[in-house]
Amino acid sequence: MGAHKIALIPGDGIGTPVTQAAWQVVSRACALGGVELDGTWFDWSCDTFLKTGRMMPEDGIETLRGFDAILLGAVGWPQKVPDSVSLHGLLLPIRKNFTQYANIRPHRLLPGVVGPLRAGDFDILCIRENTEGEYSGAGGRVHQGTSDEVAVETSIFTRKGVERILRFGFEQARKRRGKLASVTKSNAQKYSMVFWDEVTDQLAAEYPDVEVSRYHVDAIAARFVMAPETLDVVVASNLFGDILTDLGAAIQGGLGFAASANINPDRSAPSMFEPVHGSAPDIALLNIANPIATIWSAAMMLEHLGETASAARVMAAIEAATAAGIGTKPGQNSTDKITKAIINQIV
Ligand code: IPM
Ligand code: MN
Repeated sequence: MGAHKIALIPGDGIGTPVTQAAWQVVSRACALGGVELDGTWFDWSCDTFLKTGRMMPEDGIETLRGFDAILLGAVGWPQKVPDSVSLHGLLLPIRKNFTQYANIRPHRLLPGVVGPLRAGDFDILCIRENTEGEYSGAGGRVHQGTSDEVAVETSIFTRKGVERILRFGFEQARKRRGKLASVTKSNAQKYSMVFWDEVTDQLAAEYPDVEVSRYHVDAIAARFVMAPETLDVVVASNLFGDILTDLGAAIQGGLGFAASANINPDRSAPSMFEPVHGSAPDIALLNIANPIATIWSAAMMLEHLGETASAARVMAAIEAATAAGIGTKPGQNSTDKITKAIINQIV
């Protein structure tokens, strides 16, 4: 098999150092296993927007389509470009155009990392719907700037969209501990979320081996803190999943550890791998960003590409480094030191 073609989009702020770090680590792991990676860097970012008026070129999506996977750092620098412009010009169109409908975010404590909770043995896999729901972008504003102003933003839930994300969740639950938590707010939102509950029940009949629990999003937020060890696979809509995965990041020790994969399960277009965290402009130049979230995301990329052994090498190296106390506390070690420590642990 030839080299895997990877598009590298570091983006803004700490996106650059963490993407460079992850690329070094996966390159080393792959070289050891005789796996070839062929990386192409794209400088698509808020700086590019200031120069060209676009976050990515007009044919950016078509360019990316030719790659096997995308590794992305972070997008956004609100002092330069409003977030609503930068995100809708780069990150969100990639997720939607490539039908990366499953956003997978693992939450567990790495060895040596002390989280804020007493419980330490949780292992949650959040699966966030990634193409529709509250992020559909359907809406508008009228009478702008007047006292009659109206802003409407409609969530859109389709049978296709809801069914495929739940089915994906059931399949993951089967491969793990057989438990699925379906997240809604169907006590208040009586159309979309009741619909989500119905689709959950319909699929549950097809997966009798999976134990299904329904939670309202507020209740499961509390459960993330009070009893995270009772959760296995958690499936949620786009916005609920967004919020719950920052909470998941918090209980696993912080955003520096939270990895994510935007997966196109049908493989009709490339999938994208990125940390949950943003560009953190305030620490962008300090060399203290934790690259572990991005390195872990890059391991998920190798897994998706079928390079299981290389992915395992990367995960083992991350865990050996954190077990030795490297990168376990915010700001304790430089980005470079953590990266070198992980590279040294690759065997
Ligand atoms: C995330 C981020 C994005 C999201 C933002 C930057 C649009 O918070 O990946 O979780 O809400 O999806
Ligand atoms: Mn988020």
